[in-house]
Amino acid sequence: MFKVNENYLKLPGSYLFSTIAKKVNAYKEANPDKEVISLGIGDVTQPLAPAVIEAMHSAVDDMASAETFKGYAPDLGYEFLRSAIRDNDFKARGVDIDLDEIFVSDGAKSDSGNIGDIFSVNNVIAVCDPVYPVYVDSNVMEGRTGTYNPETERWSNVIYMPCTKENNFVPDFPEQTPDIIYLCSPNNPTGSALKKDDLQKWVNYANEKKAVIIFDAAYEAYISEDDVPHSIYECDGAKTCAIEIRSFSKNAGFTGTRLGYTIVPKQLVAEDGTALNPLWARRHGTKFNGAPYIIQKAGEAVYSEAGKAQTKEQVAYYMNNAKTIVEGLKSAGYNVSGAVNSPYAWLETPEGMTSWDFFDFLLEKANIVGTPGSGFGPSGEGYFRLTAFGTYENTLKAIERIKNL
Ligand code: MLT
Repeated sequence: MFKVNENYLKLPGSYLFSTIAKKVNAYKEANPDKEVISLGIGDVTQPLAPAVIEAMHSAVDDMASAETFKGYAPDLGYEFLRSAIRDNDFKARGVDIDLDEIFVSDGAKSDSGNIGDIFSVNNVIAVCDPVYPVYVDSNVMEGRTGTYNPETERWSNVIYMPCTKENNFVPDFPEQTPDIIYLCSPNNPTGSALKKDDLQKWVNYANEKKAVIIFDAAYEAYISEDDVPHSIYECDGAKTCAIEIRSFSKNAGFTGTRLGYTIVPKQLVAEDGTALNPLWARRHGTKFNGAPYIIQKAGEAVYSEAGKAQTKEQVAYYMNNAKTIVEGLKSAGYNVSGAVNSPYAWLETPEGMTSWDFFDFLLEKANIVGTPGSGFGPSGEGYFRLTAFGTYENTLKAIERIKNL
């Protein structure tokens, strides 16, 4: 008789955004006349850039001809895309990354959920609190997190680094030494971003402690301040301690088309001298059959002159929404942070409401969907996240509704 992976049974509740979708669908069903505006999950609303669409059409045509047809993609991704990544995301920022350090994938969510495969289950992870739920949940699935305490909503074998307004939503070094440190900057959900000096300190810390940083840079396109690094490899010594995960979802609207990549530097070795790059290559080759050619061609077009200009415009569009949200909420008396280097605004719930109470209140009274801060971890209690990825019209309407509450 087969048995299941019991780690899955330890996971409390369902995935945050599935829980929200269920609640919202039930509300819509019961209130078909209400116009519900979603500023919840960070899903884009603008169509793909014309340069991207053109590249996709042309790649579809390639698939129709025997001369240009493509079957399985190369393990690491097509060289045309990896060269564009190397030149634009790294060389242009003074960082040298080799082509065989770039692993193209179907997105940052999969990579951040799968990266744990190459680490021992005995490693101790450290995460920010609040945190993007995939990091902890995927470690639970792998059996790395110990037991769950429903009172504290914490796992016994996870180091939590609270990010609150007291520390400006920037994590402090933990008392206990971690083996794997998850950092996301610009941050989901708080919208804060690590300055270069702060990130350099984390790199120094990781090198000193022989820990590895999993650096999620999915939101780097939203950075507006000069002293915030776009890549962890802008910091000295990062290649010996950091893996970086990138996404095309937020910077170029690929949430529905799926594309991302991970950098695993060849200099990154475990204490016993084992290099991580060949391990990830082995994992990639075994469990992944490549992002589709059509989508990789679309990704390449993001780096064309037209693609860069058009995606920059999209980012500016969303950041204008971010400004609308922050200014509107502030004028309505809310305490709001984030949304300067990120498409997420992080607000304090009014009158001591819990995050989920405020979620229900906004849904019922203003027909707006946001994300309860406590869904990202206990230190998110009393906070609420609104995304700037809606349309401008809906964002404006949502803020007016909140002001009129
Ligand atoms: C979010 O809303 O936190 C993100 O959209 C989730 C994701 O990127 O997977």
